[in-house]
Amino acid sequence: MKIFENMREWQTARAEFAQNLRVGFVPTMGALHDGHLSLVDRSRAENNVTVVSIFVNPTQFNSADDLKSYPRHVSRDVELLQERGVDYVLLPHESEMYEDRFQYQVIENSESKILCGAFRPGHFEGVLTVVMKLLQLAQADQCYMGEKDYQQFRLVQTMARAFFMKTEIVGCPIVREKTGLAMSSRNERLSTFGRVQAAKLFEVLSTARDTSTARRELESLGFRVDYVEEHWGRRFAAVWLEGVRLIDNVKCAEVAQ
Ligand code: PAF
Repeated sequence: MKIFENMREWQTARAEFAQNLRVGFVPTMGALHDGHLSLVDRSRAENNVTVVSIFVNPTQFNSADDLKSYPRHVSRDVELLQERGVDYVLLPHESEMYEDRFQYQVIENSESKILCGAFRPGHFEGVLTVVMKLLQLAQADQCYMGEKDYQQFRLVQTMARAFFMKTEIVGCPIVREKTGLAMSSRNERLSTFGRVQAAKLFEVLSTARDTSTARRELESLGFRVDYVEEHWGRRFAAVWLEGVRLIDNVKCAEVAQ
């Protein structure tokens, strides 16, 4: 496995790949869990070469505290990726990723304004801009993204189409713990009790009769609710527990009747 910290050096290496290699890409912010590793496995199964990036992207955080407390375990992540058979890891530095000081941005004016976009102003500009940069760097045939962040996946997919990018954006199923809790790097910040409580988010989303009932049930369980809404045939929620923001979604067709 080769690690690149300098993106100009990576671009030189990437330009030398044989033309006929299929390249899969998994963008991450590190603190890897089984959800990320399922994306890596899928990329390895469908491509000749797998590239993973780890970059905690400052422009998508709404608060300095959230950025500071985002879990970081780069050496453990690198070991996990090596064990998993990844070929290349990109570890860009902020100074190189944002040499332009965020002067250039990708702005989406519709679907990025609802759900998480309504509660985290500027978040999706940060996400889309960094993913645009990462896709340009990876030059992959396929990019694998988890459906826990379904709005993010959908926006990246429509961005790639809108800009005629060569990469196909592939959405992959949410990986859950046995309790039903959707895997997320942020779960690390929950207490043992919090993790048990957090699993109720999935339970409520999958069983409540409608979104107002889900909201009421979540509030009575002690969650602070940002939203419970349905779009694109899915039911979405974002909630706060122990100061940690959790998101999840289920297909409406899979909600128990
Ligand atoms: O989902 C994430 O980890 C991040 O939003 C992404 C796609 C790597 C962009 O920073």
